[in-house]
Amino acid sequence: MFRAPVAPRVRKRLRPAEAGVSRCDEVKFEDVRLYLVERKMGRSRRSFLTQLARSKGFIVEDILSDAVTHVVSEDSRASSLWAWLKGCELGNLPSMHVLDISWFTDSMREGRPVAVETRYLIQDTKFPTTAVASAAVTVSQYACQRQTTTENNNKIFTDALEVLAEYYEFKEIEGPCLAFRRATSVLKSLPFVVQCLRDLRDLPCLGEHTKAIMEEILEYGRSFEVEQTLSDERYQTLKLFTSVFGVGPKTADKWYRQGLRSFSDVLTEPGIHLNRMQQTGFLHYGDISRAVSKAEARALGSIIDEAVRAITPDAIIALTGGFRRGKEFGHDVDFLVTTPELGRERSLLPDVIDELKKKGFLLYCDYHASTFDMARLPSFSFEAMDHFAKCFLILRLEEGKVEGGLNSSEKDSRGWRAVRVDLVSPPLDRYAYALLGWTGSRMFERDLRRFARLERRMLLDNHGLYDKTKKEFLAATTEKDIFAHLGLEYIEPWQRNA
Ligand code: UTP
Ligand code: MN
Repeated sequence: MFRAPVAPRVRKRLRPAEAGVSRCDEVKFEDVRLYLVERKMGRSRRSFLTQLARSKGFIVEDILSDAVTHVVSEDSRASSLWAWLKGCELGNLPSMHVLDISWFTDSMREGRPVAVETRYLIQDTKFPTTAVASAAVTVSQYACQRQTTTENNNKIFTDALEVLAEYYEFKEIEGPCLAFRRATSVLKSLPFVVQCLRDLRDLPCLGEHTKAIMEEILEYGRSFEVEQTLSDERYQTLKLFTSVFGVGPKTADKWYRQGLRSFSDVLTEPGIHLNRMQQTGFLHYGDISRAVSKAEARALGSIIDEAVRAITPDAIIALTGGFRRGKEFGHDVDFLVTTPELGRERSLLPDVIDELKKKGFLLYCDYHASTFDMARLPSFSFEAMDHFAKCFLILRLEEGKVEGGLNSSEKDSRGWRAVRVDLVSPPLDRYAYALLGWTGSRMFERDLRRFARLERRMLLDNHGLYDKTKKEFLAATTEKDIFAHLGLEYIEPWQRNA
């Protein structure tokens, strides 16, 4: 798995101290040669860590040369580190592992060099292709053990596979739908661009069907099956209908089977009854189907903050969902709001909704009171709604409140737009679980639960974590507590874009 050292003959002539080992330390890992980057680490800590590693049988080089196999840095800002590395004129840089300090600490704890997993890599963001597939990386089958930023090196493949996942979702055939979503998620986590089928050799969750599609794309730049799907009338119609707020695949399919193909078909068909959500969906279709920008999410954050604090100045408010994961655009903006005093959160949302209405922001509101009851847990399932008080809103956002202006079309001169906002209000002792659950992504959440169940005999959902062995619920005040309960390395929100 690890690269053979370069120029062993030169090494023989070196005295032990120069070869990166002090006289009394025995070398246990001949093939691994570390270099610790002093920047941010500091000289004294570097010297301490060097001694520590050598005492455990690691070779630590004092000078960065082509003999080094593992570069370890405490400064994980990729751009500055890589700029410096590239300036060092190394011939062997493409095959070196450039690693976060967590790889080092894990290796010290284990007393051996642990496998180089994706989560340890500090990736060269400017040239992702330099981190080549051959650099022996183990990718976990669980999304919650992978780091997935918003930077997707394999968009050409994932866009195609997502079309097929959606096609099977519309057909309600769960197996292939999930298989394509899993494959997509793995590809999104890769630090390199897949350039040939060989790059896929050791990756989990890639079935024959996925590989065949990818092979076609590698060879012709496109997939026949995906293009056929995109021009499929049923796929197109269901895609259109489900883009309306309040219309799910079931309703969309019913309309399709009734022979309806366009919005005007639906709106002029005599027998069709639209519920309040769907009526609103059609009314604000232009606005709601348009992505929400980060600047708009920030402006909405201020509006929510102000409305909530008008009710309880000591409220706790957190941005969650895709924007917490660092996405530039989203379909809505999600917030968690609660009170420090347990139980008082129950009346919070109705009051906040009144406040938003009073201020003229409220265009639509679908409020669900809490049905949460700890005594009735665990009642866990993968995608079920949680029992916290919540509301699905459409708010009126004024141009003047958004730095850089609204994300609306050039022709739009209204000076405002409608935006979807979700508010969830868990009791404070459930806050960490609710935050983790609402931060997503959906695939990340799904795999957290699957990991808990299959690897730890625990049940996880938005309300809590139940240990089936100990027969008890595990308390958590932060997301880090939950990862620790699960024995998982902490994954930052911006690395959860699985
Ligand atoms: P979203 O549907 O808002 O997705 O749900 P997103 O990741 O923010 O992406 P956008 O909005 O399409 O840009 C946010 C997270 O909240 C959880 C889901 O797991 C999802 O990942 N969620 C959503 C729930 O737990 N319960 C719900 O009822 C809805
Ligand atoms: Mn969202």
